[in-house]
Amino acid sequence: MKYIIALDQGTTSSRAVLFDEHADIKGIVQQEFRQIFPQPGWVEHDPHEILSTQRMVLEKLIQTHNVDASSIAAIGITNQRETTLLWDKKTGEPLYNAIVWQDKRTAPLCEALKAEGLENHVRERTGLVIDSYFSATKIKWILDAVPNARERAKRGEIAFGTVDTWLIWNLTNRKVHATDYSNASRTMLFDIHTLTWDKTMLAALDIPESILPEVKPSSHHFGNWTHNGVDIPLAGVAGDQQAALFGQACFSPGMAKNTYGTGCFMLMNTGTKIQQSRNGLITTIAWGLDGKVEYALEGSVFIAGAAVQWLRDSLHLIDQSKDSEYFAAKALGSNDVYVVPAFAGLGAPYWDMYARGAIFGLTRDTGKDHIIKATLESLAYQTKDILNAMQEDAGLTLASLKVDGGACANNILMQFQSDILGTEVERPEIIESTALGAAYLAGIQVGLWKKESITSNRKIQKRFTPQMDEATRVRLYKGWTKAVERTKGWVD
Ligand code: G3P
Repeated sequence: MKYIIALDQGTTSSRAVLFDEHADIKGIVQQEFRQIFPQPGWVEHDPHEILSTQRMVLEKLIQTHNVDASSIAAIGITNQRETTLLWDKKTGEPLYNAIVWQDKRTAPLCEALKAEGLENHVRERTGLVIDSYFSATKIKWILDAVPNARERAKRGEIAFGTVDTWLIWNLTNRKVHATDYSNASRTMLFDIHTLTWDKTMLAALDIPESILPEVKPSSHHFGNWTHNGVDIPLAGVAGDQQAALFGQACFSPGMAKNTYGTGCFMLMNTGTKIQQSRNGLITTIAWGLDGKVEYALEGSVFIAGAAVQWLRDSLHLIDQSKDSEYFAAKALGSNDVYVVPAFAGLGAPYWDMYARGAIFGLTRDTGKDHIIKATLESLAYQTKDILNAMQEDAGLTLASLKVDGGACANNILMQFQSDILGTEVERPEIIESTALGAAYLAGIQVGLWKKESITSNRKIQKRFTPQMDEATRVRLYKGWTKAVERTKGWVD
């Protein structure tokens, strides 16, 4: 038996997932790590913790399942995207904590780029909107904040990477400084047409080109991780949302998936065509495979599962995330409470770095159950916002929405999702699409699998069909849009 291991380095946890040669999951090891909030709106991770938790889950998975190193055909890496690290090439020491994709500290730098008139350039060349979400302004912030950092970078002593690059560099014993097309397309420094780093953006932010990684296809032999004397190829790398698109077998233009993770990310394959959005979505590279690059339209929602974690860790309304389903079921009546979890501003389709979270519609009888229910519903409303934009952009109506990620296990949420969309929601048997996608990309590279077999492997576990009447759907969504409007521009 041959195995593929997927490393899924997410925003709140590091995971390692063992797949056998039939692409069935044989084991998962997961470890949460610290979220560091030095100031309101700032979010950091300790790069050493990212690495140590990822190594720990990998080694524990291999031990627990008694996997012989020689039977591991390849490793795939998938990761939280945009999160930015800079480190010293010689010592391996990070210059600063990893600045996480949710971090808002570079909003003023983004305003400066807009004032320079770079909005069209960014949209046309990188496919993105100018926002603190992406890596570019985070790199500039570290180069500005750490003494001598820019000088050292100019001397070629510093490396930049998103989390995939940090893992590849360390797992290959500091031999390989590389990323893949999907991750590069999240930096706001990468020209998605020419597939090269964009000189205009590098100059605008005073970022020396020498810090940038080499960009490779997503299914590619990046280097080896040596375990017990055996060289195991790192053969697949993709940003987590693009990996999920791959894992859901969305291979033809018009196919889309929605992943409920820390955030919520809907991607639609647009094939080899770069489609610009007119409705607040971004254009991103889906993957590089078989000698070509394919693209996707993306709606990025910053806070989804993180709102349920907020109920658990900050408000202490629930002990475990899955309890939200029980309490939401208990909430009686159609108490129109709305939670807008704009904790990290608003992403697609609004792009407001200054929005902040709020609860609306409280009355004397509003209780804990209603707030939990409204928090869950916010995931579904945000999904509706981006599905509307996507259907408008693509000029088509989705027959059904493919879902995955942790929160899609929640039946109440999925039923509400289908109700509020008025669209069927389709949950696959394997909801770990992110890990599955990374495993497939690696497995294809080493010849274990063929892309064609992925579609036939995908099995549907449950379909949710809309039960809500149209008048209720319209009334509820109207309340949501009103609530969102009121959170905008909150921070001066
Ligand atoms: O763009 C951010 C995204 O990659 C984070 O994914 O799964 O950690 O919510 P996740």
